Amino acid sequence: MCGIVGYIGPREAYPILIKGLKRLEYRGYDSAGIAILNDNLQVFKCKGKVSALEAFVQGKPLHATMGMAHTRWATHGEPNDVNAHPHYSQSESLAVIHNGIIENYAILKEGLIKSGFTFQSNTDTEVLVQLIEYFKNSGISLLEAVQLALNQTVGAYAIVVLSKNDPDLMIAARKGSPLVVGIGKDEFFLASDASPIIEYTKDVVYLEDEEIAILQRGQKLKVKTISDVETFPQVHTLELNISQLEKGGYEHFMLKEIFEQPDTIRDSFRGRIQLENNTITMAGIIDHLDKFLNARRIIMTAAGTSWHACLVGEYIFEELLRIPVEVEYSSEFRYRKPVLYNDDILIAVSQSGETADTLAAIHLAKSHGAFIYGICNVVGSSIARATDAGSYTHAGPEIGVASTKAFTAQVTVLTLMALAIAQKKGTISEERLKEIMIALTEIPAKVTQILNKAKEIQEFSKYYTYTRNALYLGRGYNFPVALEGALKLKEISYIHAEGYPAAEMKHGPIALIDREMPVVVIAPNKGHYDKVVSNIQEVKARKGRLISIITEGDVTVKELSDHYVEIPETEEMLIPLLATIPLQLMAYYIAVFRECNVDQPRNLAKSVTVE
Ligand code: M6R
Repeated sequence: MCGIVGYIGPREAYPILIKGLKRLEYRGYDSAGIAILNDNLQVFKCKGKVSALEAFVQGKPLHATMGMAHTRWATHGEPNDVNAHPHYSQSESLAVIHNGIIENYAILKEGLIKSGFTFQSNTDTEVLVQLIEYFKNSGISLLEAVQLALNQTVGAYAIVVLSKNDPDLMIAARKGSPLVVGIGKDEFFLASDASPIIEYTKDVVYLEDEEIAILQRGQKLKVKTISDVETFPQVHTLELNISQLEKGGYEHFMLKEIFEQPDTIRDSFRGRIQLENNTITMAGIIDHLDKFLNARRIIMTAAGTSWHACLVGEYIFEELLRIPVEVEYSSEFRYRKPVLYNDDILIAVSQSGETADTLAAIHLAKSHGAFIYGICNVVGSSIARATDAGSYTHAGPEIGVASTKAFTAQVTVLTLMALAIAQKKGTISEERLKEIMIALTEIPAKVTQILNKAKEIQEFSKYYTYTRNALYLGRGYNFPVALEGALKLKEISYIHAEGYPAAEMKHGPIALIDREMPVVVIAPNKGHYDKVVSNIQEVKARKGRLISIITEGDVTVKELSDHYVEIPETEEMLIPLLATIPLQLMAYYIAVFRECNVDQPRNLAKSVTVE
């Protein structure tokens, strides 16, 4: 949802800004722009990706040691040159970049028009920069003008402001959208996440809502709130490394991230599973054990792929803990009037830790006294900081817009949580606990076995390049896998795909099946195998093309399949960790055959910081 970068210091700003934008391009890529401040405040912007901006600024005078840049995911106003950020104020003495949505922009705009302001774009951001100028025109400082403007603003923002008349000052603020300040020697960096900062400094400050960072050349970082109260934020040390942000020889980040899964799954359970004394150590659980032991029920909330991980979590928690679990789309939950108790636990799952709806769901549950547990991948993210306790997934940066390794890491962490609580609750025997723990430690090697079939999967995927629809079916633990497989295919290849509980097929979708319709069935030998075989027969009877995910050694489904992928045997509750892998690969190869932009699919953004 838009990426923002800023720099002030002794170095040349342009190369830092453009490199930063490339790291943040996963957040939005419909237009890009840059502003540099030297003797003048200059803005260059255009429709298209960061590479289009690079071409556009070729030969332009860009020499400056401070500036800011933006890559956009359009909310207000179509993606075009004019709506691209930065936005100038009327006098062109101020410029602003913005990530978020100003909800009351219409009323503010009306007032500004009455005061003689004219507008170039259709964006909410331009309203904000004009409002800052309106206040600044009364003779107050830039900081005061920004404070007054933000006090009138309803909505979410991460902004950076440059002023021609304040040549050594950069002001940044956030509410609801992320903003990180990097602190170097005599220099500051700003970015939506730490990835553009990491190669220059490891010292960062995560701004809190309604905080303003005042970055004055030659001075220390100063932070004030929009109500002018000075705050003293903690400086954190980043643990990222640069190689995690590069493709490492793979054609796409998505493929790299699929292939990282043996390691990322291992990293998710590393240090948490102690086979020698049959325990699982998760600090967030141990410190709040009474909450988990006395919870009336657990609500899991998330969006997209993370929501699918929650569905797997629901099956695992209910089986192991015998406690009711509800899984909620955060976007629905936040606007319903859900019945919430102060002995409820809300588990919020998010790769980015920035999904606006999930954050709002947390605030809602918190206001009813529920205990909030977060499962996030991005360290220091808004959701990680808004929860009472939590566990990181440790999957490393996920840059491909389609979530892959985050999903398997989330399922791993949910499994560990359920096992840890079940042991304390006494709802699992020590023998069973050991069996599942051992099975979990064997998963990375089994994922590698599946990844070794990538060529095979690529080979048969080409037959589905021109398909228009696809149906994904699974039962029990594999119903969420069907949903996830369908989501992967549709978001990167633009093929319409639906995931369904296998048995539900005959209540409607069966009408769609003919020889043109590929049906992907997750049919491992555990759970409801015989029932799934019957569902497969129903597909075959209608001439559907069957792609199956089967357990090694299966004969029945193999013989019915047009194509199949064998996965190794494991515990039923762990099958999603294996069955998802071939579906990720299949979606990837089909999208590549269709020449789609796999890492940056159209209309999407990696982290959805608007509702
Ligand atoms: O960062 P989050 O896990 O909160 O993101 C949730 C969804 O936006 C995300 O999973 C999205 O559906 C992905 N594009 C799926 O691949």
